[in-house]
Amino acid sequence: MKIDIISVVPDLLQSPFAHSILKRAKDKGLLEVNVINLRDHTTYARAQVDDYAFGGGAGMVMMIEPLVNAIESLQATTTYDEVIYLTPDGETFNQKMANGFSLKNNLLMICGHYKGIDQRFRDHFVTREISIGDYVLSGGEIAAAVLVDAIGRLIPGVLNDETSALTDSFQDNLLAPPVYTRPEEFRGWKVPDILLSGNHKLIEEWRVEQSLQRTKERRPDILD
Ligand code: ADE
Repeated sequence: MKIDIISVVPDLLQSPFAHSILKRAKDKGLLEVNVINLRDHTTYARAQVDDYAFGGGAGMVMMIEPLVNAIESLQATTTYDEVIYLTPDGETFNQKMANGFSLKNNLLMICGHYKGIDQRFRDHFVTREISIGDYVLSGGEIAAAVLVDAIGRLIPGVLNDETSALTDSFQDNLLAPPVYTRPEEFRGWKVPDILLSGNHKLIEEWRVEQSLQRTKERRPDILD
């Protein structure tokens, strides 16, 4: 999969994909992430990419022309399955969306700044508008990094143990159960006996029960 990201602060996106699972995905040739500097696509003086909002009001708006120059130069060589604009007024990102995107070939993400991007670009080029939650970030970059991480780890072949994504929280509309590792006892706090019993059937039943209980307590809204 290839993910291209258009940004006015490309430096923000240098480190997030260079470690851990996403690095492994890249090293295996399963994920390629390219960050495109929007300022390389403006014809305005001093690399300007934003301007005052028509109608007045506080805050700048990202101009349509540099965005169109950037996307059209990318589209000359790539057909995108989705053009995603990260914005607090988009649909809220979730694991189901991550699963769907992980099966695509080419994604383009657009990071907004200031008061957002000219509506005409949204109307004519963007295919999905996505928010990562009900709060406002100073730009779309961190949101794009969240999407790339959530999607990248689900690309078939990226995780070592293919089953480990299947036991993630949200994968079956359930939160994951509690987990423990050595030592068996620390400051008198013991690992539940059942996990040390070696009885895989009982352990599995315990995990399902714990998942259900956690989900009922914490996220009744996601239960089927
Ligand atoms: N840009 C600013 N805030 C955002 C959010 N919550 N989600 C996605 N993009 C954003």
